[in-house]
Amino acid sequence: MKKELTILGIETSCDETAASLLKIKNCKLKIMTNIVSSQVKIHAQYGGVVPEVAARKHAENIIGVLENALNNQKSILQIDAIAVTNGPGLITSLLVGVEAAKTLAFLGRKPLIPVNHLIGHIYANFIGKEIIELESQKRIDQRKSIFFPAICLVVSGGHTELILMKDFEKFKKIGQSLDDAAGECFDKVAKILGLGYPGGPKIANEATKIKNKKIENIDFPRPMINSDDFNFSFSGLKTAVLYKTQELDKLKTKKFIPIICKEVQQAIIDVLITKTVKAAKRFKAKSIILGGGVAANQELRKQFTKVVKEKLFNSYLFLPDPSLCTDNAAMIAAAGYFKLKKISQKDWFKKFDWRKIKIDPNLEI
Ligand code: KG4
Ligand code: ZN
Repeated sequence: MKKELTILGIETSCDETAASLLKIKNCKLKIMTNIVSSQVKIHAQYGGVVPEVAARKHAENIIGVLENALNNQKSILQIDAIAVTNGPGLITSLLVGVEAAKTLAFLGRKPLIPVNHLIGHIYANFIGKEIIELESQKRIDQRKSIFFPAICLVVSGGHTELILMKDFEKFKKIGQSLDDAAGECFDKVAKILGLGYPGGPKIANEATKIKNKKIENIDFPRPMINSDDFNFSFSGLKTAVLYKTQELDKLKTKKFIPIICKEVQQAIIDVLITKTVKAAKRFKAKSIILGGGVAANQELRKQFTKVVKEKLFNSYLFLPDPSLCTDNAAMIAAAGYFKLKKISQKDWFKKFDWRKIKIDPNLEI
């Protein structure tokens, strides 16, 4: 394989139109450009993502975003491969990114790598670090991995999943949310409280207004925290908040918003940490890997760091840079690189032929 590679990533699975150029040199993944055009302000008016509107905005934005991402390259010909999210996500949104990617791959005669969005969230952790080199060096020396098996917790707006990662490119889902995802719970609770969209950052911000530890009178459930599996359920938590706001009158609810937010955030964190630690112990994980928009939550990061130090002291904790937790295309390019790396260069075109790419809105790991 070439010593230096440049991969163009494209991501349009939900409401961010994103493109990124990633350079890979000496096993290090370096971001050259990372353009994200967010539609948040548009969807905030509706209290959530409207698929029709999202797709139309992607179509309007994609060329400009690609132009900016390719800024420092003379042409698409200088790029080695293109990686694009082909699921899971909103079908009409995915379609815009995939069609743009196919057009570029066809015109530039480039391999086109389909990427699972959730795996992209996991690989966001490997950008800008020496991990790949470290890992392969150790293997040569000791014939064993220093980071794998890993337990990955992907917490986004649409998914909460625990994934066992036995090695690069070896993933197995071991648990998932049976109803709402953690991010969805943040978003729905914020809607109930009238805080706007997206809910995660708004709730996190309200929660910082409460400094004391004791949360008077407001006590929400931690659904499935002790269940004997690795699944989650967050819809009951959202309903508990709804009942609480009905119990308190409007004026009182307003007064209690920071307390409610702190308790909801803590309930979500407690469940996520408990289940992840349990999975890490069960599978003797050498590392814990977080990804997805909810992984940008400062309190979650702080508490995970503390717990891993205290309870899993032999494990590494991977936290992506907060800007790489929410949707972006650098993580898609990174995931594309690991798929490419598995295959001999002479087979890239056959394996990653743009004609073979299929969109799957329910794509599973
Ligand atoms: O991964 P992501 O950007 O998009 C999807 O793939 O869904 O995740 C978006 C989710 C939203 O539910 C949003 O409320 C949540 O991530 N989120 C947060 C924070 N920032 C984004 N949740 C909690 N705390 C945050 N700081
Ligand atoms: Zn995402």
